[in-house]
Amino acid sequence: MKIEPAAAIDGHVAIPGDKSISHRAVLLAAVGEGETRISGFGRSQDTEATIRAIRDLGVEVYESGEDTLRVLGAGLRGLKPPKRAIDCGNAGTLMRLLPGLLAGQEGRFELTGDESLRARPMERVAEPLRLMGATVETTDGHAPIAIAGGAVAPITYALPVASAQVKSAVLLGGIYANGGDTTVEEPLPTRDHTENLLAQAGVKVTRKPRAVTVSPPARLELGEVEIPGDFSSAAPFLVAATLLAGSVLTVHGVNLNPRRTGLLDVLERMGANITVFNRRRIGGESGGDLDVRPAQLVGTTIHAAEVPLLVDELPLFALLAVHARGDSVLLGAAELRAKETDRIEAVVDGLRRLGAHIRATPDGFAVRGVPTRLRGGSFDARGDHRIAMLAAIAGLVSREGVEVEGADAAAVSFPGFYDLLESLRASTN
Ligand code: S3P
Repeated sequence: MKIEPAAAIDGHVAIPGDKSISHRAVLLAAVGEGETRISGFGRSQDTEATIRAIRDLGVEVYESGEDTLRVLGAGLRGLKPPKRAIDCGNAGTLMRLLPGLLAGQEGRFELTGDESLRARPMERVAEPLRLMGATVETTDGHAPIAIAGGAVAPITYALPVASAQVKSAVLLGGIYANGGDTTVEEPLPTRDHTENLLAQAGVKVTRKPRAVTVSPPARLELGEVEIPGDFSSAAPFLVAATLLAGSVLTVHGVNLNPRRTGLLDVLERMGANITVFNRRRIGGESGGDLDVRPAQLVGTTIHAAEVPLLVDELPLFALLAVHARGDSVLLGAAELRAKETDRIEAVVDGLRRLGAHIRATPDGFAVRGVPTRLRGGSFDARGDHRIAMLAAIAGLVSREGVEVEGADAAAVSFPGFYDLLESLRASTN
């Protein structure tokens, strides 16, 4: 797909529901009591894999319209082993969170995924669940994986990597742990949507700055869940409106959980012009609207402590840095090499081909910014949705446009991405 250059982007947008919260709402509803009604569900290939997975496990899901679901919970221990392996597709969040719930069920469950997911590390969830007493087999540390649960015991677990997915798997196992509380300690704060939803479902959740504890409940009951817009899906548009002179963009109803909005802090210190207004609670999370105007940017450094707060937006940071005055550096982000693809290589290789001065380091990248438009060219998404969206925004802000190879990967998290992008392209007359 060729993305032509734009003079500006212009308009008001609402972004589909948050992917992380959508997965979690469906998974918790599956083991809930009675009916959970989910509105603002972020429909995408990834979240549809989660709906399919819980249907395979015997849970009834009714879909009305694009973004409303009713899930008839099977109860805490009501999931049934399907005859075939559950296919998680490309969804890392599904493959890493579901084993937590399965650790508390009777029977043996198998999970697999697409080629990219089968290349990603899974021992990180297998290990703590084994410590809790579940039997977890991986295939040389990867999917396919098999889980045989039943009786699990509480643990206190210090995460070796700052990962919300691993934290969530242990907390979900913890709701089944007989006779005590389960605590997860994190090296750095990561997204806390699991904690928020567990608390909403009636679970006792005790939080400290670097640790979270859950007590096993008698039942879960979510009731109504409203999902705010996905900040990670809004991010490409925030970047485009910042880089294109003449842009005026308003984003409505987006999730502003501070553990997700590290990009706003980075943009602010680079000199961006973004205003948050109408701050409000949306579905138990911080939310609001954003007004974005263009700005001249200066380079900055991102250190390890900040990385989890914008982990999925780091590819877009590279594009900002390329257009900023001065040098930028990303440090402490080796985790990017374990995402849907090696995102350090994908970003550096892709942007260099368009004319950027960027080089890879073992745990990030270094950029020499030049505040003019990139030339353009072709950019391989490598099957990764975040890289496809980066490539498209690179095309929009380039001189000659960008041919995005494998552009359809965007549908993994944001099926309407290209339509929205074209609808925001300002008319040039
Ligand atoms: C996610 C956590 C992050 C993030 C991923 C979604 C989640 O992964 O990159 O896109 O929903 O918990 P890690 O936990 O591996 O850092």
